[in-house]
Amino acid sequence: MFDLIVKGGTLPDGSVADIGITGDRIAAIGKLDAAEAGEVIDATGDLVSPPFVDPHFHLDATLSYGLPRINASGTLLEGIGLWGELKQIVTQEEMVARALEYCDWAASMGLLAIRSHVDTCDDSLKGVAAMLEVRDKVKNYIDVQLVAFPQDGFYRDPTARANTLRALDMGVDVVGGIPHFERTMADGAASVRDLCEIAAERGLRVDMHCDESDDPHSRHIETLAYEAQRLGLQGRVAGSHLTSMHSMDNYYVSKLLPLIAEAGVAAIPNPLINIMLQGRRDTFPKRRGLTRVKEMQAHGITVGWGQDCVRDPWYSLGTADMLDVAFMGLHVAQMSSPDEMRRCFDMVTVENARILGLEDYGLHVGAIASLVVLDAGDPIEALRLRATRLSVISKGRIIARTPRQDAALEIPGRPNAVRRRHPLA
Ligand code: FE2
Repeated sequence: MFDLIVKGGTLPDGSVADIGITGDRIAAIGKLDAAEAGEVIDATGDLVSPPFVDPHFHLDATLSYGLPRINASGTLLEGIGLWGELKQIVTQEEMVARALEYCDWAASMGLLAIRSHVDTCDDSLKGVAAMLEVRDKVKNYIDVQLVAFPQDGFYRDPTARANTLRALDMGVDVVGGIPHFERTMADGAASVRDLCEIAAERGLRVDMHCDESDDPHSRHIETLAYEAQRLGLQGRVAGSHLTSMHSMDNYYVSKLLPLIAEAGVAAIPNPLINIMLQGRRDTFPKRRGLTRVKEMQAHGITVGWGQDCVRDPWYSLGTADMLDVAFMGLHVAQMSSPDEMRRCFDMVTVENARILGLEDYGLHVGAIASLVVLDAGDPIEALRLRATRLSVISKGRIIARTPRQDAALEIPGRPNAVRRRHPLA
C-alpha cells in the first residue's frame, strides 16, 4: 500500500512511470496499481519533476518594493542604499510576515528549497533572528538554507565581521561575502581569504556575492577559487553573479575557467536581476549582465540559475517562479538548442540541488517525496509555457494545487479549449 500514487506522468528524462509514495519517501517507481494507493493523482500526459530549487535569494528584503521609496536609478548601488535605509526601520515581525508570504508563493510554484542570504550588517541582527524563525516555520514544506551576508562589506562596515560570526553562532548555515563592495581590491581579496578560513574552520559551505560589477578588473572569483582549493573546500563553494566575467579579457578567462573547475567552485548567475541592473553606465553596445554560462559548463563547472530578488529595492517584479528565471537565462545566455534548453530546466532543479548539497533529492526510490506535476509534456515545454503547477507534493504531502488554465475560445469553427501544448516533433 502507498499513501499516494502519482500515475502515468512523464519524467524529465522522457520515461513514463508511476511514482508510489509512503510517508515522506518515494517507495516505488514503475508500473503500479492505483488500487494500492490511499490517493491517486492522474498525471497522464503531464510532466512530473523533482521540485524547483533557488540557490540565491534574499528573504529578508523580499516584498518590500517601494519601501521607503522606489529605486530611481535602477542600479545595484542605489538598491543597497535603499535597503540600508529600510533595514533601520523595518521590524522583525514585518520581515517574518513578508518572507512567509513569499514562501506561500514558492510553495504554490513548486519551489521547495531556497538558499537565502541574510544581511548581517546590523548590530541588532533582527533580520537574522527573523530568518531563523522563518526557516523553522516552513521546514515541513520548504527547506531554507541561510547565508550570513555582510551586505555593507565584511571589512568596510566596522562591525560586520563580528556580527557575521555572531550570525553563524546563531545557526546560519553558509558563509557569504561581497568582496567587490570592499574599499579596495586588496581588501576584497583579504575578505575572501578570511571568510573561506572561517568556513573551513566551522565545516560550512561558502556562497559569495562575487564580482557583481561591470568592471572587468573585478577578479575576486580568482581568489575564491584559489582559497577553495587551498582549504580543501572543493564542491562546497559557490560564486554568485560573477557578472564582471562578461567583460574580462578573453585570454585571462581562458586561464580562469580551468582554475574554477579545478577548485570545484559552482557559479550562480541571476539573469532576471542582472539583465536589469548591469550595464547602467553603458551607452551602446550595452552589456547583458550575465556571466559566461555555456563556457563554464563546457569546462565542467556546475552552473545554477538563481532568482535573487522579488519585489524588493533591487527588482520590482517576480512571482517565485524558477521557470521565469530559467526562461530569461536561456535567452540571455543564448541556450537555444534542445539540449541547452533541457539543461536550463536542470539548472533550476537537479543542478541547484547539487549546489545546495540537498540530500535525497530527486526522483528515485528512497528520495524525499517532493515533486511537482506540471501542465507540460516535457521540460522544454514547461519552460516555454512557464507551465502551471497542477500539484505540488512536499515530503509526501500534497501542499498546493492549481487548476489547468485552458483558454475558452469563442470563435466559430475553431476548437473551444486552447492549451498551447506543442511538443517537439
Ligand atoms: Fe543577492
